[in-house]
Amino acid sequence: MTELLERWLEAVIATPGLTALRDPADARRVLLDDALRGAEVVSAWDGPVVDVGSGGGTPGIPLAASLPDREVTLLEAERRKCEFLRSWEPELANLRVVWGRAEEQPVDAFGVAVAKALAPPPVAVEWCLPLVRPGGAAILWLGPSADLERVERAAEQMAARRVDSPPGFAVLEKTAPTPPGFPRRTGVARKRPLA
Ligand SMILES: C[S@@+](CC[C@H](N)C(=O)[O-])C[C@H]1O[C@@H](n2cnc3c(N)ncnc32)[C@H](O)[C@@H]1O
Repeated sequence: MTELLERWLEAVIATPGLTALRDPADARRVLLDDALRGAEVVSAWDGPVVDVGSGGGTPGIPLAASLPDREVTLLEAERRKCEFLRSWEPELANLRVVWGRAEEQPVDAFGVAVAKALAPPPVAVEWCLPLVRPGGAAILWLGPSADLERVERAAEQMAARRVDSPPGFAVLEKTAPTPPGFPRRTGVARKRPLA
């Protein structure tokens, strides 16, 4: 696992357009170590995992490597990034890549949706929660200035509630199927955020 993740990290840094981080120590901290902090949080919830807006593959690739019994889907809107992500599919039996937007995917399908640096938190909430089935959770990596009340208000409108989590995460438990009217059509979540 370590050797694979080292090769992946080097490739992300070396491939134009995947990360602005050029310093290897910064890249390791943000793309790898921070992603691995989520493995324990994810393992508390069952079922297949989707990484929404995976970019160069974080947190999805580190999670797939550290949780080999879980199917991990990397969902990414940009085709060029998906080509990079697909090159890692042969290396991890539990990894698959889907090119597409969160708002256009089947709903109530995954046990867990994870997202890191996807969008402002209320927008990330709106994109992630429809993908999660009732009883599952959306797990967001959040910066220290994130407004948890806005996250909670958005989650409540998406049939979810925030539950306890380690610092740096919001864990949102889906309590019922995706409400009618969601996902809203592409572009609306950013233009008229829920909170
Ligand atoms: C800032 S990057 C973060 C990438 C990665 N998660 C990370 O932490 O480095 C956000 C990514 O989300 C993708 N994205 C934005 N909106 C999306 C959507 N609605 N559905 C799927 N992917 C989306 C973008 O193409 C971009 O690659």
